[in-house]
Amino acid sequence: MDTEKEKLTKLLADLKIAKNNLFKHVEGKNTPINIYTHLDADGLSSGAILGKALYREKIPFQITVLRQLEKREIAKILKKVQEYNNFLIFSDFGSGQYLELETELVNKAKFNSFLILDHHIPQNVSNKEEVKLIEQIHEKTKNWHINPYFFGIDGSVEISGAGLCYYFAKCLNQENIDLSPIAIVGAIGDIQNQGLNKSFLGLNTLILEDAMNLGLIEVVNDLNFRSLKPLNEAIAYSTEILLPGLSKDANRTLIFLKTQGILMENSEGNVKTLSELNQDEKQIISTAIIEYASIKLDLEPNKIIKKLIINRYILKEEPAGSELHDAKEFSNLLNACGRTHNSSLGIAIAMGNRKDIYQQSKEALKNYRKSLGESLSWIQENDKIQEKDSIQYFFGEDVIPENIIGTITSMLIFEHIKGVDKSKPIFGLAKRTDEDVYKVSGRAHESIVNQGINLSKAIRDACKQSNLDVLGGGHPPAAGTKIPIEKVELFLENCNIAIRNQLRKK
Ligand code: C5P
Ligand code: C5P
Ligand code: ZN
Repeated sequence: MDTEKEKLTKLLADLKIAKNNLFKHVEGKNTPINIYTHLDADGLSSGAILGKALYREKIPFQITVLRQLEKREIAKILKKVQEYNNFLIFSDFGSGQYLELETELVNKAKFNSFLILDHHIPQNVSNKEEVKLIEQIHEKTKNWHINPYFFGIDGSVEISGAGLCYYFAKCLNQENIDLSPIAIVGAIGDIQNQGLNKSFLGLNTLILEDAMNLGLIEVVNDLNFRSLKPLNEAIAYSTEILLPGLSKDANRTLIFLKTQGILMENSEGNVKTLSELNQDEKQIISTAIIEYASIKLDLEPNKIIKKLIINRYILKEEPAGSELHDAKEFSNLLNACGRTHNSSLGIAIAMGNRKDIYQQSKEALKNYRKSLGESLSWIQENDKIQEKDSIQYFFGEDVIPENIIGTITSMLIFEHIKGVDKSKPIFGLAKRTDEDVYKVSGRAHESIVNQGINLSKAIRDACKQSNLDVLGGGHPPAAGTKIPIEKVELFLENCNIAIRNQLRKK
C-alpha cells in the first residue's frame, strides 16, 4: 500500500493535468470560470479557496452555492454551458453525480471543459473496497474528475472538499499554501478530525502541517467545551460530556468552578469563557472534572481524558475571542451562513473579508443557533422520533426547514440527546417549500459504521428498490437524497430493509 506521501504524489499528478486543461481553456479569453459548490462549511471553504486562487491568477470567476447538485440543477448548468461555454468547477459535490455530468455534458453537449473536485464516494460505487470499479472510473474520467478514493485515500475522513481544492490551489501557485487554514476549517466542518482527541488523519495531517509550518495554525490541548460560552453554561449544556449533578444546572456548575479557587468573573463582570482562562486554570479545572467524573460515573480517568481533552485548532492571525480564532467555531459560522441563505457572507469571510461582513455573519449565527435549539426542543418535547426495527426517523413538519434538517439529524446521533438510539441510523425528513419532495438526511453513529453500516449505499439501494430516479449518496456515516412526498413510506421501509441487510452481513 502507498504511503501518505506517495498517495499525495499521485493525486498531485492528476491535479496538474486538471490545471493544464483549465489554463488551456481560459487562455486568451476573459470569460469567467463558473464554480459550483455545496452550501455547508466544507463547500463554502472549497469555494473560497478556489475563488481566492483564481483571483490571484487574475482569472475571473463566479461562485454559485447549491444545496445539492441535483438533476434539475445539472439541466440548468447544461443550458448555461450551451450559451456561454465557460469552464466549470464542481467542488464538494459532483462525484455522486459524475455519470449524470458525463451524460449531460460530455456525451450530449460534447463539452468537457469542467473539473470535479470532490471527496464523496462516486456514483454507483457502494464502498471503498470496490477497488476495481473505482479504478475503472478513475481511468474513464481522468481528464475532468478528481476524487481521493482514486488514490486509496478515504474521502470520508482523510481529506475534505476544501482539502482537495487546497491542493488544486497549491498546484496553480505554491503561494496558495497560506490557504491551508481554510482547508482545515472545511475538514472540521465535515467532522473529519476523528483521530484520538480529535486529531486529524491521512492527508488532513499534511495540510495541517503546512498551516503549522507557516505559523498560521497552532494546535493546543484544551477542554472539550464550547470556547466562547460562559464556562459554567458550556459545561452544563455540553451534549458530549455528561456530569451528573452539574449537567443542565449552570448555577451549580458555577459554584463547582468557584470552589476550585478560580476567579470566574471577567473584567466586564460576566462569567469567563474557556478562551479567557490561562493554561494553569484549565489544568485545575480538568483535574477537578476528572476527579468528579471518576467518582460520579465510576469511570477510569483514561476514559474520561479521551473525551475531555481535545485538540483545538487555533488560527493564530485571527483575533482571540472571535469565532474565527477557533477552527471549529469558524466552521460553525460558515455553516450558519450557508444554512440561513447567507452563503455569500460565508464565502467572503473565508476569502479573508472582515468588518461589516463579519458582523452580519454573527447575526446569521445567532438565528441559526436559535432555530437549532428550538428544533431540538420541539423533537424532544413532542417525542417526534419514530422507529422501525432497524432505523429511526422523524419528520420536520412545519418546524424544521430543509436547510437545517441535516444539522439537526447530525446533532441527534452524534451528541447525547434523550430518546435517540445510537445503535440505529436516523433519518430526518423535511418538506421542501418549492417542490413536492422531502429532503432526507441520514446519519449513523461511528459505532455502527464500524460494524458495517453504510448509509450512502443504504440510501442508494432504497431509492432503487423504491423505483426512484433520484440522485443520492454521501459517506457511510452521513448521506442524503430527496424523495417525492407520496413515496416516502415506501422509501423508509426500503431503508429499514437495506439497513437490516447490512447488519446481517456483518
Ligand atoms: O457534503 P459533505 O461531505 O460536505 O457533508 C458532510 C456532512 O456529513 C456534514 O453535515 C457532516 O457534519 C456530516 N458528517 C458526519 N460524520 C462524518 C462525516 C460527515 O456527520 N464522519
Ligand atoms: O444534506 P445532508 O447534510 O444530509 O448530506 C449528507 C451527506 O450526503 C453530504 O455529504 C452530502 O453531500 C451527501 N449527499 C449527496 N447527495 C444527495 C444528498 C446528500 O451526496 N442527494
Ligand atoms: Zn465535504
